[in-house]
Amino acid sequence: MQHTETLNDLSGVVAADRAHVWHHLSQHKPYETADPRVFVEGRGMRLWDAKGTEYLDAVSGGVWTVNVGYGRESIANAVRDQLIRLNYYAGAAGTVPGAVFAEKLIAKMPGLSRVYYSNSGSEANEKVYKMVRQIAARHHGGRKWKILYRERDYHGTTIGTLATSGQDQRAMQYGPYPDGFVRVPHCLEYRKQWHVGNYGERAADAIEEVILREGPDSIGAIVLEPVTAGGGVITPPEGYWPRVQEICRKYDILLHIDEVVCGLGRTGTWFGYQNYGIEPDFVTMAKGLASGYAAISCTATTERVFEMFKDAPEDSMSYFRDISTFGGCTAGPVAAIENMRIIEDEGLLANTVAMGERLMANLQALMERHAVIGDVRGKGLFCGAELVADRATKEPLDERMVQAIVADCMAQGVIIGATNRSLPGLNNTLCLSPALIATPDDIDRITDAMDRALAKLAG
Ligand SMILES: Cc1ncc(COP(=O)(O)O)c(C=O)c1O
Repeated sequence: MQHTETLNDLSGVVAADRAHVWHHLSQHKPYETADPRVFVEGRGMRLWDAKGTEYLDAVSGGVWTVNVGYGRESIANAVRDQLIRLNYYAGAAGTVPGAVFAEKLIAKMPGLSRVYYSNSGSEANEKVYKMVRQIAARHHGGRKWKILYRERDYHGTTIGTLATSGQDQRAMQYGPYPDGFVRVPHCLEYRKQWHVGNYGERAADAIEEVILREGPDSIGAIVLEPVTAGGGVITPPEGYWPRVQEICRKYDILLHIDEVVCGLGRTGTWFGYQNYGIEPDFVTMAKGLASGYAAISCTATTERVFEMFKDAPEDSMSYFRDISTFGGCTAGPVAAIENMRIIEDEGLLANTVAMGERLMANLQALMERHAVIGDVRGKGLFCGAELVADRATKEPLDERMVQAIVADCMAQGVIIGATNRSLPGLNNTLCLSPALIATPDDIDRITDAMDRALAKLAG
C-alpha cells in the first residue's frame, strides 16, 4: 500500500504539529506530554496516522464531510486540470465550473433557482442572515428583521451564526451577540417538553407561540436543520415539518434550511429536507458538497427572493452588497461537480438508504443488549445513540464516560463521534456518519466496536 512508503519517519512532522499547530476544539495541555494524532493518508473509509495505525472512519473526516470517501483520484484530477486552466476570478464575474455546478445543483432542488458561492457553512448561513436583513430594510420598512433559530441546532462559528446557536456551550464566552436572533424550542421527542397526542405538531406550535410573543411583523426568517446534527442527531417527529411550513406561510416567514450536514446524500436523498416534503426559501450547504476535496459552500434560494435584490436598479444600494473572496475559487465547484457525478454513477443515495437501515438495525440490536442506550435515531448514514445512566429516569450518561467509549472505539481502530461540549448536561449522544460508500462489513465493524466498548465500560 502506498501509505507504508510515506511513513518512513514522520517524527519531525509530529513535532512541528505539536510545537506550532493550534488544533480546533482542543485543550492543548495534554500535548505537552503526548503526541497529537496526525493523519497521513486515506483510502475509501480507511485512514492511517503518522504511526502507521489504520482506522475505519465512521464519521467521514470527523465532522460528517467526506461523503464519497478518501483518495478519489477523479476529483483530484478534475481540480488539478481546472487550476491550470483558471484557478480563480472574483465572484462578480462567472467561471465555467461555477455556472455548470449551479445548473446541476438547481436541477436537484425543484423550486429553487439561484446559487451564491462562499466557502464555509458558517459563511453560507451568514449570507442568508444578511439577505433577510436587507429584505427587511428594503421591502418591509425595517420590520421583519428578526431571525428565529432552534434550541440544540448549530449554524456556525462566526459571531453572527453563534448568535443562532441552540447549543449554549458553543456560544458561551464569545458574547455579547447581535440583537434580533430569537430561540424556539427543540423537537426531540425522547426529551419531551409537552405531553400531548401529536408531538410533532405540538413542537411546531411552540414556534408559533414564539412568533406571537415577538410579533409576527418582526420575524423575517427561521433557520432549522432538517435533522439536527451536533445537537444530538434529532430526527423530526411525525407531523413537525408540515406544521412548520404552514406556520411560515401563515406569517410570511422565510424558511431557511441548513443542509450543511444533511446535504449531498447523507440522509439518502440529495437533501435532508426532501425526506419531509418541505419547500424552503433558502438552503445552505457545505461539508459534503465537495466531500472536503475543496472548500466550497452554497446559499441557494428562490427566484422570488432573488427578484427582491434587483427590483430597483436605479438605486445604487439595491443589490446584494456582499462578496466572499474565496467564493470565486474554481476548485470548489469543479470538485463539487465530480462529487455529484460519483454519488450518481455509483448509486450512493440507494447505498445510503440500504446501509443506513443496516446501521439502524445494528444499533437497535445494541440497544437490546446495553441498557445504557436510551434511544437510537437517525436517517440514512446519519445515526445517533443517546446514552443514559438510567433508562427509567433518562438521566444522561456523564460526558466523560461517553468520551471514554469513543476513545475505546478509537483504540480498536474505529473512529466514532459524540456530542461534544455543546449542550450543558446533555453531551451524551454517540454520533455515526460513515461515508456513503460504506459496505455491510464496514457497518458491522463499526457497531461491533461499539458493542465491545459498551460491554467494557458501561456494563
Ligand atoms: C448544521 C451545521 N451548520 C453549519 C455549520 C458550520 O459549518 P462550517 O464549519 O463549515 O463553517 C456546521 C458545522 O459543523 C453544521 O453542523
